[in-house]
Amino acid sequence: MNESVFVKKITDFSNIYRGPFVKKINAFDELPSTNTKVRSLAIQGAEEGTVVIAQTQRKGRGRFDRVWQSPKGGVYLSLLLRPKTPIEKTSLLAFVAALAITHTIRSFNLPARIKWPNDVLVNGKKIAGILLESDMNDTQVSYVIVGIGVNLNTNLAHLSADVRKNATSLRKEHGSSIDIDEFLNTFFLQFDRFYQLFSAHHFDLIIEEWKKQSDILGKRIKVQTTNDIIQGTAVDVDQSGFLLLKTSEGTILRVTSGDCTIIDES
Ligand code: BTN
Repeated sequence: MNESVFVKKITDFSNIYRGPFVKKINAFDELPSTNTKVRSLAIQGAEEGTVVIAQTQRKGRGRFDRVWQSPKGGVYLSLLLRPKTPIEKTSLLAFVAALAITHTIRSFNLPARIKWPNDVLVNGKKIAGILLESDMNDTQVSYVIVGIGVNLNTNLAHLSADVRKNATSLRKEHGSSIDIDEFLNTFFLQFDRFYQLFSAHHFDLIIEEWKKQSDILGKRIKVQTTNDIIQGTAVDVDQSGFLLLKTSEGTILRVTSGDCTIIDES
């Protein structure tokens, strides 16, 4: 697909899509990062429901300042939210996004699961990642940017060897390419569904559904945090979406961020 064909396809989709959340989809052939673009729109006062999507990114960002490799074929999009919910619930927006992606991928008959906090896996390999960035003070959230990268029709050979060994794509798992409009249509409807629960303060329902789709609860895991590696059994998530890890000494640790790996399936 050449550049202008991508922008036209997404713009045509945007003109007919009528879900409650999405207000406007801004499509680009190439950007440094869709999150950066949404941030500048947010600062200019853009409304909730503004979406930016790019065919490729030159400086796609992942969690912990990692690079998010963004070759053609993937979905790179960012959503602007201006939630009016309590500030301590903001991290649950990662659950909202992970659930929307998981249900979208499941609609293509693929067994998507969530790895805390917000990686989406199919058959144990990463198919999508989520990066939340926000602007808030002690009491109020000005905006939250939900950045989502999905290996839709990505040619995995276009990813570096170290990323590729733990990655998969919908095309590979499904056996054929998936139309991006079909993917976006389902994704936005699913996002609407879970964001409405969030906006209505039904945090318990979001957490309950997240637990059903989670890949790690009950398993022994290792979590790489910014300063440490901790090990234990993933026993639960709390009301803010933080992980509760039971160590071999029986202590319960509350983990707010990190990267986890399953040690065994018991
Ligand atoms: C992760 O798993 O580390 C999160 C990856 C998030 C990548 C997406 S792609 C669209 C948006 N723009 C970015 O620069 N990053 C996010």
